[in-house]
Amino acid sequence: MSPEAGGQAVVVGATGAVGGAVLRRLRKAGLSVVAVARDESRLAGMAADDPGVLPCPADVGEDRSGALIATACERVGEPVRMVVQAAGLPASGPLSSVDPGLLGTLVGLKLGGLLRVVRAVEPMLGPGSRLVAVGGHFGSEPQPQTCGAGVTNAALANLVRQLADHYGPRGVTAHLVAPGPLDTERLSRLAEAAAHRGITRDEVLDEYREHSPMHRLTTVDEVAWAVALLLDPEAVALHGATLALDSGARRGLF
Ligand SMILES: NC(=O)c1ccc[n+]([C@@H]2O[C@H](COP(=O)([O-])OP(=O)(O)OC[C@H]3O[C@@H](n4cnc5c(N)ncnc54)[C@H](OP(=O)(O)O)[C@@H]3O)[C@@H](O)[C@H]2O)c1
Repeated sequence: MSPEAGGQAVVVGATGAVGGAVLRRLRKAGLSVVAVARDESRLAGMAADDPGVLPCPADVGEDRSGALIATACERVGEPVRMVVQAAGLPASGPLSSVDPGLLGTLVGLKLGGLLRVVRAVEPMLGPGSRLVAVGGHFGSEPQPQTCGAGVTNAALANLVRQLADHYGPRGVTAHLVAPGPLDTERLSRLAEAAAHRGITRDEVLDEYREHSPMHRLTTVDEVAWAVALLLDPEAVALHGATLALDSGARRGLF
């Protein structure tokens, strides 16, 4: 599909920091967007501001979200050029205190959610369609402080490679976008929660910055830029790849 072809995107987590920035980029690129999140009133507000946004209140942790998303996409009636799974995970705490049962819930939400939305739009996918999962740096750089996100995003990387194998023969590409710590409300909340270690929220944020040799946090606009780049036909060469948007934080070579 060429960038001029129009079409629609499904953005899960559209009211969040990452999903919201992605939605705005995709709208600028000329795509209609089916915006998925649980909070109906926030979605309605977005749709009131932009007629190119169709609100789809749904919980992607539940099976019935699939039918809701499929119905919304059918209403838009255009080919699905991109699916973005950017649902946020609830804070789960460090390894020392994480509820073991919560790990399964997190995987069910992020990986199960990705599968639900992909299956929902499957008949509307075609050559050039993109499946994009937003994972995170700690999936490949394990750290006991970010236990739940690390485990979930590692599993997500595996699922994305499976999707790449499964959908590649149809010309549909799959991608993992793995940001480092982002300058967002969510990170502030996580820092607040981690402040029990006897250090302040700002000191925790500084620790996150220290992961980058540039002493910076990646921004959501940088993540949205990378996601929108995947619309280009040349992005077929990135099929199955992980885009690490971590401002140099990654230690592993591959
Ligand atoms: N922030 C960071 O530092 C950072 C760094 C690396 C990676 N990431 C990844 O980026 C993703 C998004 O993070 P964020 O900072 O944008 O989070 P956020 O601002 O908290 O937004 C989360 C979004 O997900 C939606 N959501 C949550 N649970 C949902 C569910 N069950 N079904 C449907 N929608 C759901 C929320 O809306 P409702 O509550 O209305 O459902 C909201 O739109 C996460 O997967 C995270 O792991 C974040």
